[in-house]
Amino acid sequence: MSELTLNNGVTIPQLGFGVFQVPPEDTQRIVEDAFEAGYRHIDTAAAYRNEAGVGAAIAATGIPREDIFVTTKLRNGEQGRAQEAFQNSRKALGLDYVDLYLIHWPVPSQGLYVQAWKEMERLYENNQIRAIGISNFLADHVDTLLESAEIVPAVNQIELHPSYQQADLAKKCRNAGIEVEAYSPLGRGADLDGDAVTAIASAHGATTAQVVLAWHLAQGNIVIPKSVNPQRIRENFAASSLTLSGDELAAITALESGARLGSDPAVASFSQM
Ligand code: A2P
Repeated sequence: MSELTLNNGVTIPQLGFGVFQVPPEDTQRIVEDAFEAGYRHIDTAAAYRNEAGVGAAIAATGIPREDIFVTTKLRNGEQGRAQEAFQNSRKALGLDYVDLYLIHWPVPSQGLYVQAWKEMERLYENNQIRAIGISNFLADHVDTLLESAEIVPAVNQIELHPSYQQADLAKKCRNAGIEVEAYSPLGRGADLDGDAVTAIASAHGATTAQVVLAWHLAQGNIVIPKSVNPQRIRENFAASSLTLSGDELAAITALESGARLGSDPAVASFSQM
């Protein structure tokens, strides 16, 4: 499994497993399926209410803790209280340390994300977090953060899939040393039906999900597909062994339509997240 090296030297498996919208009561079983399939990188968030299930799966597996990469995120309503929020997440996960802790959304209307980043920087010093980063930060939020940041975020986790690539934002992040992590990498399933990906999938005897994931990996994205279906969990993991040609990659890149599926980070402000 390919790994990327973050700007502080910590390595992250490029293909991870996301548990957004996985029901808390199903999370342990589904994360165990993901471990069984070969994933060693799990992405959760306090807002998903399933950290305990992720932790239970980690506790139940025989895989050494240091071989698993765990990401969780600071809720919007807890910016300004990151110390306490982090300890609650760490305890829910049942872990001594978390590999990556992210500010979940900038919530510009709240005016707290610069302060929240300072809290993240202090948290990073206490050796219970291996890397800190951001999520859903648009270009102006990244610029504002970098003006005062002592630590450059290790990643920016953003909505990114063939029909919504945020190419300028991704380039800006990479130029600043921030790795790009793609959420909704399959376009919530909507990017799997087009003629281009279908033709490429047939040519390789692969599935369209594998083709889209192979495209992400070739772009250098960290990618966290989610599925509650064991067969698809395995199928998605196997995308790491699929290599697409330059023309095939270009055909997928040409699918940009500018259509966001999720919330607009410029205005999203749900406090439960
Ligand atoms: P399911 O959980 O029933 O497998 P994204 O990661 O972009 O948010 O997409 C997740 C959506 O895509 C879920 O609805 C998931 O459904 C579906 N999905 C995940 N993997 C596959 C796959 N290999 N083939 C088809 N649909 C998939």
